[in-house]
Parts: sequence; C-alpha cells; structure tokens
Amino acid sequence: MTITSRGYQTGFGNEFASEALAGTLPQGQNSPQQVAHGLYAEQLSGTAFTAPRGSNRRSWLYRIRPAVQHGEFVALAQPRLQGDFGALRASPNQLRWSPLPMPEAPVDFIEGLYTMGGNGGPDAHTGVAIHLYAANRDMQGRYFYNADGELLIVPQLGRLRLLSEFGVVEVEPQQIAVMPRGVRFRVELPDGQARGYVCENFGALLKLPDLGPIGANGLANPRDFETPHAAYEDLEGDFELVAKFDGQLWRAPITHSPLNVVAWHGNYAPYRYDLRRFNTIGSISFDHPDPSIFLVLHSPSDTPGTSNMDLAIFPPRWLVAQHTFRPPWFHRNIASEFMGLVHGAYDAKADGFVPGGASLHNCMSGHGPDAPTFDKASQADLGQPDVIKDTMAFMFETRTVIRPTAQALAAGHRQAGYQQCWDGLRNNHRR
Ligand SMILES: [Fe+2]
Repeated sequence: MTITSRGYQTGFGNEFASEALAGTLPQGQNSPQQVAHGLYAEQLSGTAFTAPRGSNRRSWLYRIRPAVQHGEFVALAQPRLQGDFGALRASPNQLRWSPLPMPEAPVDFIEGLYTMGGNGGPDAHTGVAIHLYAANRDMQGRYFYNADGELLIVPQLGRLRLLSEFGVVEVEPQQIAVMPRGVRFRVELPDGQARGYVCENFGALLKLPDLGPIGANGLANPRDFETPHAAYEDLEGDFELVAKFDGQLWRAPITHSPLNVVAWHGNYAPYRYDLRRFNTIGSISFDHPDPSIFLVLHSPSDTPGTSNMDLAIFPPRWLVAQHTFRPPWFHRNIASEFMGLVHGAYDAKADGFVPGGASLHNCMSGHGPDAPTFDKASQADLGQPDVIKDTMAFMFETRTVIRPTAQALAAGHRQAGYQQCWDGLRNNHRR
C-alpha cells in the first residue's frame, strides 16, 4: 500500500478529525483499552500540556506501530545544514545572493538543505534558522522529523509532496507548507527537481495575527488553510529515520514506515496555504502602511507586538496612493529581514533580485529601492493607478540579528558589490 492524498480539511488550528478507515476514532475518550483495527493510540503534543486552551496544540494518532519503535540514533553528517549561530558574527552590511545552484549529483530534500543564517536556537526555544533547499530526487526509504522547530517551507521551483504521519500535503510555488515540530514525513518531487526556502522556527508556533481595526476579515483568512485528511501506508522493510535534534542530524534504522497513522484527531497537524489567496490591504489615500500590513503568519515572542518571526509577503496589488512615493520606502528598523522572491519581479529593485535569490538586511542597516526604481517612482504619474502583476516576494523577519553562515558569506552565488545598486542615488538637494 502506498500513501496517497485523501484531500484536505479547512481552517486554521481547528479541532480536526480524520480517519482513513471508518470506525477507527474512539468516541468519548482518547485512549481506550483496545483501539479499533488493532491500532496503538499515541498523543503528539506541540505545546506544553498546560498551555492555555487557546494556544494548546496536540493531536491523538491511531497507528499501526507506535513512534517509539526504531533502532539507536547515531550522528549523521550533513555539513551544509547548520544549527549553531551563537559563534557566528554578523556584519551590518547589506547582503544579496543569486539562486542556489541546482545539484548535479542525486540529492534529496534533506541532503539539499543549505543553511543561510539564523539566530537563537532549539535549546532556548527562540529564534530561527533560515535554509535554502535544492533537490533532484525523492527521499527514498528514509523519513525525517525535526525536534528543533516547525518547518515553514516556501517552494520557489517545482512542487513538493510532503507525505506525513497526518496525510499528504502537496505544494507548488506560491503556496507554503508548515510541518510541525516532531511530525515524521518524507518528501517527493513530482517535477523531478525542486528549490525553495525554509524557515525553521524554534519559537512559539506560527499563528495568524490579530487584525485590530481591520476587523474580522482580511490578510490570510483562516478558511484558506488546508490540513490533510488521514492517509497511511502499512509498509515493513529496512528504512532510515532521520531526526534533527539539538542542532544536528541523527539517523536510526526503522523496520517499518512511520507513515502508519490510520486516523487522527486534534489541532496539531501540517497545513498548507496558497499565498495567492492573501487579501492584500493598502492605502487608498496617501502614504503606504508599514509592511506589517502584509503579515501572513507570525511566531509571537513573550513581548506583546514583537514577533520571534514574521512571514510577510509582497503579492500582486494595486498602487493608488496620491502624493506618495509608491514603492517600499527607504527605511531602517529594529527587526532583521531575510527576503526571497518566489515569482516574477519585486517592485523595489530594478534588477539583481531574481526568483530563487535572497537578500539580508539586518537590524538598523539602511535599505530601500535601488536608484533606477527611485528615479522612476519619483517621476511617476500619480493621476493613474498602477498595478503590480506577476510577483510574489516574501520576508522572514526576526526580532534579533540574523547571523549568516560562513558558507553563505563565501558562497559563489553571493553577489559581491550589492551596495552598488544604491550608488546612483544622486544628491538632488536644492536651496
Ligand atoms: Fe525592510
């Protein structure tokens, strides 16, 4: 039996319930003496047992074998995947990269992860790691889980099939997927190759932002989030279970597929979201709001209004503001910003920032439109609305400085002289 998608349930953080075999889920309790169909009951908790009800996340899994069954873990080398940012030092320089080259040898999703930078770490349950991935083969005979954080996956090239304990999540560029901490899965590449971005969130679970005066609707709407229906495989053989635990990879033999959950219920599960469904809100008078108006999901910190990590996007939209410099303005801010481009062109840069590329503007480092963009927008006819089509940029924004890895700083795809894109900004001062 091979795992195949059985569709999706909609909503964000709902109490979902799904069974691939009718009559599996127990009624009125979670752990009966005997589970239907000869299954084991197992709870997976993504938050503390005692987390407040509104933020408590856990699911009950009814499975062929319990997750405890595997061999001994030993360390697994994957030098491009890094998890210790404390010894690294960031500079205030603005940085930019061209796309990560596609691999020539066969590389699966885990082998294809390439760490760009990060902050905090799994031991403190705060901060993020930011990775790229470039892969050209399915994960074969191996399964993965991440004990260090949840994975926010942003495909840029090629689709991903995430076959998980909870069912199948299929994503394509301009969609995102979130794989919670601890959930076992493997990745297939329906298009034969794939490239994209991953934010490994060590902090509080990603959630939808409050909307304040915006009201009950807008930005990312809860009904557009999709969680898979249960799907499973009953497969015995010689496989490998790979874990990311305390900043490094581990491998253990496993004699069966861990994707053996016949039914589950709860509010801790993978999900996907189509960024093209984002209800973009902006100015209809003058100026444009702070970029927090583009927030999709965030990981709150213990300081109100200050996220451990934000996912913001810059989707297609109309620009109608009057008396206004319409592109993103020049600014410096306390947050640190890692940007990527999934599709098309980004409206603050004339060239150099291409799909699959990335930029890093750390805390209080100046950034903004390049010289050609400034000149064009300064002279634009504001009597006409402008529409930005064919674009999907995003930002992983963090509370603390993002420290780039040595490999990211030395990478052949790093663009030397990025700062020169602002050289053409002239002194236009007049008395
Ligand atoms: Fe910024």
